[in-house]
Amino acid sequence: MASTDGAREHALAPEHLAACAALSASAHWNQNEADWALMLSFGRGYGLSLADGTLAASTLTLPYGQSFAWVAMVLVHPDCRRRGFATRLLRRALEDLARDGRLPVLDATPAGREVYRQEGFCDTWSFRRLALDGAWRGAAESTRGIRVRALQSQDWPAVAALDLPAFGADREFLLRSLAPRLPQAALVAERDGQLAGFLLGREGREARQLGPLVARDTETARALLAAGLSAVPPPLYLDLVDRETETRAWLEHAGFAFQRPFTRMVHGKAGAPGDAALVACPAGPELG
Ligand SMILES: CC(C)(COP(=O)(O)OP(=O)(O)OC[C@H]1O[C@@H](n2cnc3c(N)ncnc32)[C@H](O)[C@@H]1OP(=O)(O)O)[C@@H](O)C(=O)NCCC(=O)NCCS
Repeated sequence: MASTDGAREHALAPEHLAACAALSASAHWNQNEADWALMLSFGRGYGLSLADGTLAASTLTLPYGQSFAWVAMVLVHPDCRRRGFATRLLRRALEDLARDGRLPVLDATPAGREVYRQEGFCDTWSFRRLALDGAWRGAAESTRGIRVRALQSQDWPAVAALDLPAFGADREFLLRSLAPRLPQAALVAERDGQLAGFLLGREGREARQLGPLVARDTETARALLAAGLSAVPPPLYLDLVDRETETRAWLEHAGFAFQRPFTRMVHGKAGAPGDAALVACPAGPELG
């Protein structure tokens, strides 16, 4: 691995937002400045800049609850890869998380996974990004016994109560900040008079993204997705857990195409926080 000497390590702050957005665009990622601003508002950002001031690499840590943190936006400019930049910032972030006593968790692309495995991360479950470019060709879903409606302010306690065991930490502040970004995707499902699932979405640089989608069962997840997909026009991304094979077949039949795989990884052990059985779509690899 070549030396990273000559690149200056620094904190990422609001004045770096445009450079951060340019860096994620160079990897064809979907985040926009609003995503970076949100993450930097509660996370810690690490950057490496070249002598000419170009931001060449980034890493964020996002604390959730008391016990773990997401490692996010591990990005290196295409011209600067395989020079140890990602490893250097990752090690720095891991040192800080060890000091804070937080377990590092992340969602890895195949290239990132090679870096993380060498730094002690273990695989847990997996999901894949599906993309819809053209019109949604899905038929109306039979949702007998399930009522899907717009999320209302009085739903937040029940949404947060369902999300807590699913994700493994309280992230109500994050869910609340996502909801207004794509209001037509902010939906809840009721079954037997109880909140059985919720869906949120957000706009992005390339496409609108649906997720997180947390649901007590597959039927509820499908009902939420069907409602969200009929309300939100393409282009669309959604990250679907690999476990949901029938839902994937339904989505692919109606126009979605595979884009890229992700692996949820945890530092030092093979068990992720939360209850994967309740998660149909993560919020996105950068958020968990
Ligand atoms: C993944 C990424 C961050 C790696 O950054 P990097 O600075 O090139 O990584 P490093 O130089 O620290 O790599 C350390 C080691 O990891 C492994 N590695 C890194 N990239 C790899 C790749 N694309 N394929 C296979 N192994 C890879 C190698 O063993 C490498 O050591 P070597 O170069 O001596 O062989 C970079 O390719 C990138 O930004 N990709 C696009 C965005 C992305 O996928 N980010 C990860 C998000 S989870």
